[in-house]
Amino acid sequence: MKKIVVTGGLGFIGSHTVVELQNSGFEVIIIDNLSNSTISVLDGIVSITGQIPTFYNTDLKQKADVEAFFKGHNDIAGVIHFAASKAVGESVNEPLLYYENNINTLVYMLQNTTQLAHAPFIFSSSCTVYGEAKALPISETSPIQPALSPYGNTKQIGEEIISDVCKANTNFNAIALRYFNPIGSHESAKIGELPLGVPQNLVPFIMQTGAGIREQLSVFGDTYATQDGTCIRDYIHVVDLAKAHVIALKRLIDGENTTNYEVFNLGTGQGSSVLEVIKSFERVSNQSLNYKIVDKREGDVVAAYANTTKAKDVLKWTAQSSLDDAMRSAWKWQQQLK
Ligand code: UD1
Repeated sequence: MKKIVVTGGLGFIGSHTVVELQNSGFEVIIIDNLSNSTISVLDGIVSITGQIPTFYNTDLKQKADVEAFFKGHNDIAGVIHFAASKAVGESVNEPLLYYENNINTLVYMLQNTTQLAHAPFIFSSSCTVYGEAKALPISETSPIQPALSPYGNTKQIGEEIISDVCKANTNFNAIALRYFNPIGSHESAKIGELPLGVPQNLVPFIMQTGAGIREQLSVFGDTYATQDGTCIRDYIHVVDLAKAHVIALKRLIDGENTTNYEVFNLGTGQGSSVLEVIKSFERVSNQSLNYKIVDKREGDVVAAYANTTKAKDVLKWTAQSSLDDAMRSAWKWQQQLK
């Protein structure tokens, strides 16, 4: 069995990807420092797949620990690097924390991965690199715009670092995946999104409001230049997203890539407004949601949804689940959390 290292493998997208990797016949080694996850996620993974991933509670900021890990694992067949901090607001207040967490760790991972014989690298990037795109849907050739936050900047810099490393090392292969807005959970409801504290993202906040944990959802602005005045995003089911990682990894392992650094958008191609997401929640949960319109949130882009052509043509991957499917799965997960 090919051994794949998944950093941040107990996180939201990471845990769903571990499940899909195991279901596809890979042996998974998780590295996670539990900074934004809990060890119980491991039980969720095992109860879905019946396979126990190897787990290392390692902090990737400790360069010597990363080196020690790779010294003991020279048979690794690929790396999927999720581990990173992702709260936009926090990154504005704590920029150095974000550069250390997201950039130092990436450098250490690359220093070691490039020493392995044939271990390709998959990087978690974000549609945030496009900023407020001039044309919709957003294709991979859409210009990268100055980042609106240190968090967004770490994704841009991360992509540049990987691109430079690929130029310098033609035997090294990498793919950056630019996620749109991942939501939902595994159909078993044994793993899902576990926000620590007050959720910053829309769907976890909706779920907690629906469950009575939060009083009311604040909708950040309804005077944008969109159909109903609220912002538009491309919400993609996390299981669809997880499957795309397995496909991208296999592409590199099988040497099917055309250049040694490739970039793909991962979205559904469908834009949904905040109010449409709320309506979807109301449909699938059969209850109304308490929300109010408040001021715009600083730094929000008006609309972002993916041009999915490249992923479809090259990876032969398209998202299968609808917004309602994803919201239904998120609600099922939320209900069993109680
Ligand atoms: C945000 C980041 C993005 C990051 C992602 C992961 C910004 C501008 N973008 O995405 O870079 O990759 O998180 O964490 O911050 N909304 C409400 N009320 C809420 C929460 C959200 O109305 O309580 C609205 C937002 O204004 C937005 C939409 O819901 O229109 C989605 O917001 P969110 O889930 O935070 O995702 P992004 O902002 O798209």
